[in-house]
Amino acid sequence: MARVFNFSAGPSTLPEPVLAEVQSELLEYGDTGMSVLEMSHRSAAYSQIIEDAETTLRRLVGIPDNYRVLFLQGGATLQFAGIPMNLMRTGRAGYLVTGLFSRLAQEEAEKYGTVEVLASSEATGHDRIPDLGPVAERCQAGDLDYVYICQNNTIYGTQYRELPDTGDVPLVADVSSCFLMQPLDVTRYGLVYAGAQKNAGCAGTTVVIVRDDLVGEGPACPLTPSYMSYRRQADAHSMMNTPNTFGIYLSGKVFRWAEQEGGLEALERRNREKARILYDFLDRSRVFHPHAQPSSRSIANVTFRCDTAELDNAFIAGARERGIEGVKAHRSTGGMRASIYNAVSLEAVQALAAYMEEFEQAHRS
Ligand SMILES: Cc1ncc(COP(=O)(O)O)c(C=O)c1O
Repeated sequence: MARVFNFSAGPSTLPEPVLAEVQSELLEYGDTGMSVLEMSHRSAAYSQIIEDAETTLRRLVGIPDNYRVLFLQGGATLQFAGIPMNLMRTGRAGYLVTGLFSRLAQEEAEKYGTVEVLASSEATGHDRIPDLGPVAERCQAGDLDYVYICQNNTIYGTQYRELPDTGDVPLVADVSSCFLMQPLDVTRYGLVYAGAQKNAGCAGTTVVIVRDDLVGEGPACPLTPSYMSYRRQADAHSMMNTPNTFGIYLSGKVFRWAEQEGGLEALERRNREKARILYDFLDRSRVFHPHAQPSSRSIANVTFRCDTAELDNAFIAGARERGIEGVKAHRSTGGMRASIYNAVSLEAVQALAAYMEEFEQAHRS
């Protein structure tokens, strides 16, 4: 077996002990005589699995009792619609556009009400988080149902250092690519959500953490499909229909692994060290150029490029020869991206940095 160093943005590398445990349980889970893949979601064994996943996540993050935890399907993308459907009660929300995924969320929300773009980083190629001052000012009027951010911009490699001050207006955040990489103060948000396929499991599960008062009596939009109603899902503990049983089982194991690694503070220390190695190198380099401004750099996705697409391609091909996969950036930007999520080891980052150094020496003119 030869596992590569996998820097994919998602689906992405999983902790090896989790994969090994899943493998050992695949034919028979506990003494049930069947695989978790074959098990009724209403069985006692599965009820325990989903309950454990939620309990572990609550303990790991420190989720207060007045927040519901939902395990939904449809990816982060379905929440682009789920959020306005459930939360746009007066029909007006503010969006901060800091990359492709917040723009897609904004466009989806426009189907359900009036969307105001409160800040955008488009003019500078999404290389930074824009000035958040105007957000605080705009929120004072008190007529917005929520303010939406994408807290870590997977494609551009930028991340909020501080959250916008939204006063009493609920803050809604897509934390898909930075979830569980550092402590998360859930009380700062009305709702946070994450696709699991980066730091919390595999594709097909989306974790939504939403405050009770926002769940309310039900969705704002009467045409909301039952599946998309946070009320219905919260009442049914994410089991109003057949959930992604395997995905939730896997997420539970990843949450437990994160705890065993020392929890979110320990993971943050490790993640910051991994990011530091790459950014320090990029700041010294004459061959590679980092995309994100230093004040907005992500600890999850490190984006960079060379002077020409030919050099970028040569770097990516050479990486592959050395067992380093997934460093080709998103098709919309070109260049390179190293996603250094929780399960990416320090050793993997050191291997990437060593190869970058080698490439630098070979191409420095
Ligand atoms: C920050 C962010 N939001 C949303 C999405 C879309 O996620 P999904 O493919 O689960 O719908 C992604 C995908 O990479 C992402 O990185």
